[in-house]
Amino acid sequence: MPVIGIDLGTSNTCVAVVKNGVPQVILDDKGRSTLPSVMSLNKKGQFFIGYLAKAQMSVQPERTVHSAKRLLGQRFDSEEVQRILPFLSYSIMPSQDQMTCVMLGEQCLSPTEISAAILKKVKTLAENALGEPVHQAVISVPAHFDNKQRQETKHAAELAGLEVTRLINEPTAAALAYGYGTDMTKTIAVYDFGGGTFDISVLEIGEGIYNVLATGGDTFLGGNDFNQAIADKICDRFKKTTRIDLGIHSLAKQRILDAAEFAKMQLSSADQTLIDLPGIVPDIDPKYAIREVLTRAELEKLCTPLVERSFKICRNVFESAGLKKDDIDEVILVGGMTRMPLIRRMVRDWFGIAPNTAINPDEAVGIGAAIQAMALDNDEDVVLLLDVIPLTLSIETAGGVCIPLIPKNTKVPHRVSRVFTTSRDNQESVIISIFQGEGRHVEDNTRLATFELSGIRPARRMEPQIEVSLRIDVSGILSVTAIDLETKQSQSVQVVDMSMRALEALESEEQP
Ligand SMILES: Nc1ncnc2c1ncn2[C@@H]1O[C@H](COP(=O)(O)OP(=O)(O)OP(=O)(O)O)[C@@H](O)[C@H]1O
Ligand SMILES: [Mg+2]
Repeated sequence: MPVIGIDLGTSNTCVAVVKNGVPQVILDDKGRSTLPSVMSLNKKGQFFIGYLAKAQMSVQPERTVHSAKRLLGQRFDSEEVQRILPFLSYSIMPSQDQMTCVMLGEQCLSPTEISAAILKKVKTLAENALGEPVHQAVISVPAHFDNKQRQETKHAAELAGLEVTRLINEPTAAALAYGYGTDMTKTIAVYDFGGGTFDISVLEIGEGIYNVLATGGDTFLGGNDFNQAIADKICDRFKKTTRIDLGIHSLAKQRILDAAEFAKMQLSSADQTLIDLPGIVPDIDPKYAIREVLTRAELEKLCTPLVERSFKICRNVFESAGLKKDDIDEVILVGGMTRMPLIRRMVRDWFGIAPNTAINPDEAVGIGAAIQAMALDNDEDVVLLLDVIPLTLSIETAGGVCIPLIPKNTKVPHRVSRVFTTSRDNQESVIISIFQGEGRHVEDNTRLATFELSGIRPARRMEPQIEVSLRIDVSGILSVTAIDLETKQSQSVQVVDMSMRALEALESEEQP
């Protein structure tokens, strides 16, 4: 049975497979290689996924969900969600567990369920193309995805009836697509600028080994932000001349965003384009229209700060890994945004070499996922991935200080153990919180989980020795186990309420 590779993108999803040793993208019945990651619900209660749904974006924006990947595994009150909230054309709200959910008509759907629907659609697409059922997949995720985002991606696949044989980091997948079938030995940088996320990874490749040296990224920097910047500019100008705030007109807002994206794409090949939106606020006056020329020079001026953000990340990645730009033999461009001439130019200037544009920026990640799927399925060591964790994992100690347990860029899989004890006589449980991020204090990092170690045998303080082991698997997902070192009894490790703080003063000591 074939195992497929899926690039579940913020804007577009691509599915691929390796057949007789040849990686290939699975096309839909119209010969298209990607599917818009969009879901809509019509008034009759029918769901649509992909192109039909995307066509609804500017017709019924409030019933059309796009970029759900940005909300995946995100708390509603997180800075990221709050930042994009005013710009969303559909409604989101907090779920019972304070995560983000999307209102589609009367229905409240989690981003995981929306991702599952998209995955199910490409699963069916693959089954139709291959003429047999598909039950397993390798799915790509932004290298910078945290534990929760990875878990939710896996969960979405399960809901779609797919067992995930591995999650693969998107830039690593692109590197696989680039190096597969060649015998090159090189140090490459993969610069991946997609619809919602930016990733940069540096890898050494050679003899079938893909060794990730460092990775970094921003899961809230992508083409969407460029569209928004253009749309904001148009709305500002309109407001100056008419005093009408288009921000409160959801239909107008979405039409402008669509036109902004279209203009941005046109300006990758043209020098100027016309943004022409008649009857933009028909409720107020059908005569109001937007009609303006946008030049590539204006677009570039507007978007340069966004591209600069990507280089700030590159700089951090290079510095933290002790890499120099001279170490890079080749820069590979991935993601639809890298078609933009401004990005290509700025990449060339920053790295000091002309980027390689030979691989298809829309398909490389899906193809790489398929190559990994094939390699895992055949138990073949044609490709060996040595990937890393993107963010430091730490544990909270007294005073809200985070003690790093596994530093970022550590190779996966990885396991680390620490011994904990109690601070009171006959203490029955201890609470342990795990954080992800580079800050020294809990408030600067993301809380991954709070665990309660319960059922500790009655003893004097400091006597029980409980060894807690954190394991990160090859997909970058964390699991926790605990054992009482004296009785060798495993302790129950339970995720407790996220809002529960570590009330106990914990003593932790390094394991010898
Ligand atoms: N010719 C082009 N010029 C400029 N931008 C483009 C062009 N073609 C596509 N894009 C932009 O690329 C983005 C989509 O890229 P891509 O399909 O790689 O993203 P994705 O994989 O869905 O997202 P992510 O990787 O962030 O999850 C969109 O913002 C789109 O507007
Ligand atoms: Mg992508």
